Amino acid sequence: MNARSLTIVQIIIVGSVSAVVYDVTKYGADTTGRNPSTQAIAAAINAAALKNGGIVYFPRGKYTTGPIELKSGIHVDFADGTLITFLDDPKLYPSITVKLPDGKTRHLPYTPLIRGMGVNNVAIKGNAIIDGRGQIWWDRLHPPSDRPVSVHFWVANNIVLQSFHIQNSPMFNVHIVDSNNIEINSISIKNPPDYHGKGPNTDGINLNSVKNVHIANVNIATGDDCIALNGNTDSRGKKPTQNVLIENSHMNAGHGGVSIGSVTSGGLRNITVRNCYFNNTVRGLFIKTNRQRGGTIADIHYHDIVMTNVKKEGIAISAMYNDKDTSKKPITVTTPFINNIEYNNIRGNCGRNTISLVGLPESPVQNIRINGFTVTSNQGVLLNNTRDIIINGKRQ
Ligand SMILES: *[C@@H]1O[C@H](CO)[C@@H](O)[C@H](O)[C@H]1NC(C)=O
Ligand SMILES: *[C@@H]1O[C@H](CO)[C@@H](O)[C@H](O)[C@H]1NC(C)=O
Ligand SMILES: *[C@@H]1O[C@H](CO)[C@@H](O)[C@H](O)[C@H]1NC(C)=O
Repeated sequence: MNARSLTIVQIIIVGSVSAVVYDVTKYGADTTGRNPSTQAIAAAINAAALKNGGIVYFPRGKYTTGPIELKSGIHVDFADGTLITFLDDPKLYPSITVKLPDGKTRHLPYTPLIRGMGVNNVAIKGNAIIDGRGQIWWDRLHPPSDRPVSVHFWVANNIVLQSFHIQNSPMFNVHIVDSNNIEINSISIKNPPDYHGKGPNTDGINLNSVKNVHIANVNIATGDDCIALNGNTDSRGKKPTQNVLIENSHMNAGHGGVSIGSVTSGGLRNITVRNCYFNNTVRGLFIKTNRQRGGTIADIHYHDIVMTNVKKEGIAISAMYNDKDTSKKPITVTTPFINNIEYNNIRGNCGRNTISLVGLPESPVQNIRINGFTVTSNQGVLLNNTRDIIINGKRQ
């Protein structure tokens, strides 16, 4: 395995939160799991929220519940050995529409299992298992259908997710959108790598239009991308994803170990992925976009990555994702640009091209430096529509 970095990066400053403890059992939560605790958990959260926040504590036990809504200043604290099982009656997870502090209305097709919308200073910590009971959803709603996300934040600041385990998520496990200052540490995620060939869209951690993110010591095995980074655009303009550090993490099954795109219109910049181990993923490091997506993907740094048993490409960049038209087109507002990507010390083995860099004739992939690269495969390097590419010190 890779060496663990000793660097401690602290980029998140969570605002001060009241240390008053709100024990969910004092509000009627059932630690045997026989009776749903949905109302009791909501009552504890609301009591804390009325006092500008506090610690919502789950004593050791088994709880069953419907959706949980977090408020500003809430720190959920699970005792060791807590099991939270979500009820799998779809009627409990209706579509929701919420007006958020940025003035815009957001619609979700299903209520997430755990959500924080328009919140600040929220943490979920503790050695609990969160079981989304996804089977009923996967069986009924195949991609591209939506299903409930397990942990969802939208327009949120100062979020800490730490030490818990999510399994059987109906859809994405962690989905954070339009948010800043995110620390995700030591969580693990496990979903089937392939569910009857139907692919349940269970991205491990999916982040869209986020800034100042630190992900460390996570362990993910899932049926879609382990970590996916996107950057979107809305009526007010581009919403980039930037300042992201992902380190010391282990991906064991999934589509991409770390994927960027294919939602790239807002741009993605200043992203570092280091000291990670990918085993059995479909691709290793994947950047994907196309002529409908647009945006600039730049200043991306990958180093000290080991990848074993990767089924397809070790390193892949494609500006032609789901696009077959190789003719040259005019540059438009939705032309993507990819440049200044650095890979150092990438080792392991894969089943297809070790490196595949495919740009557009009108927008080549440019300024890519790959050094200390020793991934092995029966298939070599594929470059098309590229400029200024260096591989192991040699200009291509
Ligand atoms: C790039 O992101 C890192 C966090 O990974 C941050 O510490 C650094 O300040 C950012 N650099 C710039 C130029 O914004
Ligand atoms: C990689 O995955 C294989 C299963 O395909 C497993 O046997 C092996 O233990 C894994 N390696 C590590 C280091 O997790
Ligand atoms: C490379 O790109 C050119 C021009 O876009 C295209 O004609 C050709 O088919 C591409 N080759 C491969 C192997 O993709």
